[in-house]
Amino acid sequence: MSFSRRSFLYYTGPLAVLPVLPQRCSQLVDDYRNDGSPFLHGVASGDPLDDRVVLWTRITGDAGAPHTVVVAWAVAKDPQFTRVVASGVTSTDESVDFTVKVDPSELQSGTTYYYRFRALGHDSTIGRARTAPRGNLTRARLAVVSCSNYPYGYFNAYAALARRADLDAVIHLGDYLYEYANGAYGDGAPLGRTPVPDREILTLADYRARHAQYKTDPDLQEAHRQHPFIAVWDDHEVANDAWHSGAENHQPDEGDFQERKAAAIQAYFEWMPIRAERGDVRGRVYRTFHYGKLLDLIMLDTRNAARDQQPLDPCDVTTIADPDRQLLGEEQEAWFFAELERSQRRGTRWRLLGQQVMFAQLVNVLAPGGCIFNPDQWDGYAAARARVLNELSEGGIDNVVVLTGDIHSSWGSDLTAAPFDATKYDPATGRGSLAVELVTPAVTSPGIDDATQAAQFGGAIRATHPHVKYVDLFHRGYALLDVTRERVQCEWYHVATIRERSTAETLANSLQVSSGTNHLVPATAPSTPRVDAPALAPSGSNVA
Ligand SMILES: [Fe+2]
Repeated sequence: MSFSRRSFLYYTGPLAVLPVLPQRCSQLVDDYRNDGSPFLHGVASGDPLDDRVVLWTRITGDAGAPHTVVVAWAVAKDPQFTRVVASGVTSTDESVDFTVKVDPSELQSGTTYYYRFRALGHDSTIGRARTAPRGNLTRARLAVVSCSNYPYGYFNAYAALARRADLDAVIHLGDYLYEYANGAYGDGAPLGRTPVPDREILTLADYRARHAQYKTDPDLQEAHRQHPFIAVWDDHEVANDAWHSGAENHQPDEGDFQERKAAAIQAYFEWMPIRAERGDVRGRVYRTFHYGKLLDLIMLDTRNAARDQQPLDPCDVTTIADPDRQLLGEEQEAWFFAELERSQRRGTRWRLLGQQVMFAQLVNVLAPGGCIFNPDQWDGYAAARARVLNELSEGGIDNVVVLTGDIHSSWGSDLTAAPFDATKYDPATGRGSLAVELVTPAVTSPGIDDATQAAQFGGAIRATHPHVKYVDLFHRGYALLDVTRERVQCEWYHVATIRERSTAETLANSLQVSSGTNHLVPATAPSTPRVDAPALAPSGSNVA
């Protein structure tokens, strides 16, 4: 690829003769940015491969106008844009809600790039992206997040991540947004964070507007601006406790569920920096990312692809054990097992699974009879979980780390078919454990909001669940993964508050799994930041 500084169309004339798109800014956006820029929703990157990464932005205008907006983009090796390596021009229109995605190829592997857009006479802010590495990588650092509910509070976890210069990527496990009206799940009024529109979202216009509001949050914008995201949805990107043909929070008087789901998926693909397969109306999001021979990150969709309805009764053992009930669906499950086998065959050291709901067994400690705690988790699909565990043991697949969101709390667990049977699993040595699970806390959504009750309930779980090595049901924050060939270390960072903007955080706990052990133990020392971290993208859009 040849290039030279400013040889691209970025600053040249054609943009000046474009029709001016009418500006339509919400009051919310005007409150913190009124310079006339159409880039009100920031910039973002995602889905890093070893030669490309998706770059995203959105042009704010009148969605009803029949305009096409031309958008120039440029990618450079440095934040001053003295070494531009790729550039071009694309366009957007109302068919994609004026969102913009480019996917520049022929980039170098394991490299940090800086990018920006230009449209309607304005430059966007400068974003920072990173391609996936190739070859014998020795270390990776990944953040894991989930469950950012706008009305519940400030996205301080995103702000904290944005300050970490040494992350390879941010893995988002879903509940990126919530579908409710204000007050139905969090009252945003006291903080000026009332959902837009202030009703349960049902239509394409609704889902687009909700995505747009979330992307006005300055802390979410900053996390997107500094790091590539690898995202999957959970239930609330459509509706609470979604399954393939319905959801707990979808009623007959809210219209056809499949139409609602299709609208939600369309808006998601428009507004998220995810690589869309053009024309793939099914909205397939399960996919694999390779980080050299150090780790493969297999992203799964337990939610919208093929999930059967949750058991209505957490004590209904017949339904729970029904081998015909699916969580991934036959097609995804076959793909998943093949990916695991390919990864193991290639000699990749670690297999990370990015997925939504808790995999480890969890019985209801507050009710007699051994009923499961939450039928929406893998517990409600016992045969599907058994097939996964069988694939690990029969396929000789090791070094599997399951990453989970959804439950608004922090957990670390060994994964075994029989966690309560001392003849099959020894919690002291890990004998019988096949993999481990790391659950990231919510950015803002609540676990148990009373600290004392949370500690009591957590203690009861630890006392009765030998495979659970760590649980915190109270705090918000994120998980930081430090991956080497020797071990995966997980550090749970909890934020001090979500009631005011703050980057105060605490390292709450740290567990590790050593290669070949498939078992969690306390980490010996906190991981150290990379000394050679590339510079964060500078704020502002002007480049000298
Ligand atoms: Fe959630």
